[in-house]
Amino acid sequence: MMSTTSMHGMWSSRLAFIFAATGSAVGLGNIWRFPYTAGESGGGAFVLIYLLCVAAIGVPIMIAEVMLGRRGRQSPINTMRALAVRQGAHPAWQLLGWMGILAGLLILSFYSVIAGWTLAYVFRAGSGQFAGIDGPGSEAIFSALTADPERLLAWHSIFMALVVMIVARGVASGLELAARVLMPALFVLLVIMVIYAAQAGDFGAGLGYLFTPDFDALSAHAGDALLNAMGQAFFSLSLGMGAIMIYGSYLSSQASIGTNVAIIAGIDTLVALLAGLAIFPIVFANGLEPSEGPSLIFLTLPVAFGQMPFGALFGVLFFLLLAFAAWTSAISLLEPVVAYLVENKGFSRVRASLLAGVAVWLLGIACLLSLNEWSGFTLFEMGILDLFDYLTANVLLPLGGILIAVFAGWILDEEVSRTELGASNGAWFYPLWRGLIRWVAPLCVILVFLNAIGLI
Ligand code: TRP
Repeated sequence: MMSTTSMHGMWSSRLAFIFAATGSAVGLGNIWRFPYTAGESGGGAFVLIYLLCVAAIGVPIMIAEVMLGRRGRQSPINTMRALAVRQGAHPAWQLLGWMGILAGLLILSFYSVIAGWTLAYVFRAGSGQFAGIDGPGSEAIFSALTADPERLLAWHSIFMALVVMIVARGVASGLELAARVLMPALFVLLVIMVIYAAQAGDFGAGLGYLFTPDFDALSAHAGDALLNAMGQAFFSLSLGMGAIMIYGSYLSSQASIGTNVAIIAGIDTLVALLAGLAIFPIVFANGLEPSEGPSLIFLTLPVAFGQMPFGALFGVLFFLLLAFAAWTSAISLLEPVVAYLVENKGFSRVRASLLAGVAVWLLGIACLLSLNEWSGFTLFEMGILDLFDYLTANVLLPLGGILIAVFAGWILDEEVSRTELGASNGAWFYPLWRGLIRWVAPLCVILVFLNAIGLI
């Protein structure tokens, strides 16, 4: 096999790729978004559909993204154009890269605001404010934060500065340590929280809520629950916008894509389920509402930290590590556009990161104002932050996913994907992947879309 490299640097090892891609996947999506979306969509049935989406749509598309990235070795825009031209297909396939850049900027703008909440909560936890609080007390702390645009702006700005710093240095060198040390620490802490929730919370109710599919509850939440589950799978796995593609572009030609993807998707899913197990028992034991929305973990966890032994310490650690997890994800949202600016506009990495960072920072201001000053402004009954969240996860990412699946399954030569995936003629996984990527993934996304707009 031909061995190629990227001008933006390469991962130092296969493990470095796994850490970076897991760092991208595991973030607010697992710990903040998964529980609140599950809670809004009625619980168990949502979780079941989510898991099916991860397996049947997410994993094959992630394999495709890594493969296309490694094949192209450039920003998603240039990778798609080059691969399309090489196949004799229309260069308009680069549109996928452009959509990805748009999605990345929009996601990062609200992601950074939520990461800012997380940073703010490090200090709330450390100052002992959570000691002994109940649901309403937790609610008051949260509302005070979101009602204050200056505070939100300060934290959003700090977070964006941290992101730009790493992206400016080049992700292949900046990311590894954070992912190697801090992510396992977050994992351990999450397990501690689950153990605590099992003792002090209503674990039976939490478990039942997450794992007993209640399809009546699902249909009560209309077509959107299906769409939410699929959108959550894309969001959580960082799929559909080129983030995983560009990480794949720094992966050595020898590494096995299928194995790596299985590990990454497995860890990502496990973390989301653990987050659910840590949160819902507390929700039910304290009279909170599962359908609270984006505030869910910020209302729930302080109650737990306020009651548990060493709660202030655990609280500080938890929110700090969550902020780190958000950071390693945010970096992957900015990388595709930065790589593009470097490749096509001749920018230095520093200049490209700053420019993209400022654009996101400005969009983020609109998001944080939608929580207070601009709360009267809504579109489809959503404020700007919720709208960006919905539009990206439920529309842009799945659309990107269809394009990736169709390109990898129908346009790209079978020879190429066979070689990239290391599939000799008898390999069982290759036909499985090919069936999923050609038929199952694109058709499922289309069916879910049709269902959401009420056509089926
Ligand atoms: N997957 C990350 C999380 O769960 C967020 C994220 C990072 C992302 N890169 C992405 C989402 C690309 C969609 C696309 O927090």
